Amino acid sequence: MIEAVQTSSQFTQRVFSGIQPSGGLTLGNYLGAMKRFVDMQGQDYETIYCMVDLHAITVWQDPAKLRHATRELCAGFIAAGIDPEQSILFNQSAVPEHAQLAWIFNCVARMGWMQRMTQFKDKAGKNAQNASLGLFAYPALMAADILIYHATHVPVGEDQKQHLELTRDIATKFNHDYGVDFFPITEPVIEGAATRVMSLRDGSKKMSKSDPSDASRINMTDDADTIAKKIRKAKTDPDALPSEAKGLENRPEARNLVNIYAALADMSVEAVLKDAGGKQFSEFKPILSELAVAKLAPISTEMARLTQDAGEIDKILDRGAERAREVAAPILKKTYEIVGMVGA
Ligand code: TRP
Repeated sequence: MIEAVQTSSQFTQRVFSGIQPSGGLTLGNYLGAMKRFVDMQGQDYETIYCMVDLHAITVWQDPAKLRHATRELCAGFIAAGIDPEQSILFNQSAVPEHAQLAWIFNCVARMGWMQRMTQFKDKAGKNAQNASLGLFAYPALMAADILIYHATHVPVGEDQKQHLELTRDIATKFNHDYGVDFFPITEPVIEGAATRVMSLRDGSKKMSKSDPSDASRINMTDDADTIAKKIRKAKTDPDALPSEAKGLENRPEARNLVNIYAALADMSVEAVLKDAGGKQFSEFKPILSELAVAKLAPISTEMARLTQDAGEIDKILDRGAERAREVAAPILKKTYEIVGMVGA
């Protein structure tokens, strides 16, 4: 039996998260993911952030659009504040160890586990027989993304919780089957309700890049005027803002705008309402708009600038992939040894 390499408590505090380059970044991606990734950077963790292009192609992607979306996502990360020196920033396909470990995990995970994944059921829809095998195996690749770095903390949205539980199941079964304590049992860092950004047209629906109405979302590429206009036109109700969070119950649009303000200002909802309670939306919207423009317009400007320089982006991604491989390669090698592969 291979001796345990490390015990769980000895794992380096390491954050990993990924975003799919499937085109169109919204305020939801910024507040729900990128801003949180930035906040974890330079704390007590190593931070690794990935554009998961191999996940993106589990559903059809036009190759030219995929290339553009990957570079735009990289620009978005940097514009949002990810420092490619401090963090490791790269695209998944450039580090082949992800796909290699995913294969091992395909052999660890059970059909029954995968069949329970609600995201597969949602994405495959009625015609599951026609879904790609990759879409079915998606969570095993996600587990590999995380565990190829022995990541201990994974910030994700609520919708990814089940995939993280599966990641823990895979790590546990691998460790058990091979009699090792090799893969860490990863901690999910789930976003709070406050960072769940809803549609500006319907406070009960998540803000989405695929909503047919562009007015329903703020895109990370929107300029200052567009941001201001969308907030001015956002759906509200006729009442004044309450002075306590409880007063937002059953007022999804009001709650959404207050949540957005709180997240952008790094304040609690209570603190926002202490100031804003009693204000009408005609008064609150301009305040929100001013804050949103101040925080977001510089990001979209920087994104546009970076996106134009594909050469610069590609250099950053190459360097990121190189650094990622330095962490991933020894972990894959050890995994192969544990499993009984000869050579390399
Ligand atoms: N499945 C995640 C999403 O759609 C993206 C992702 C892929 C991811 N691999 C990951 C997130 C690893 C965290 C860790 O949002």
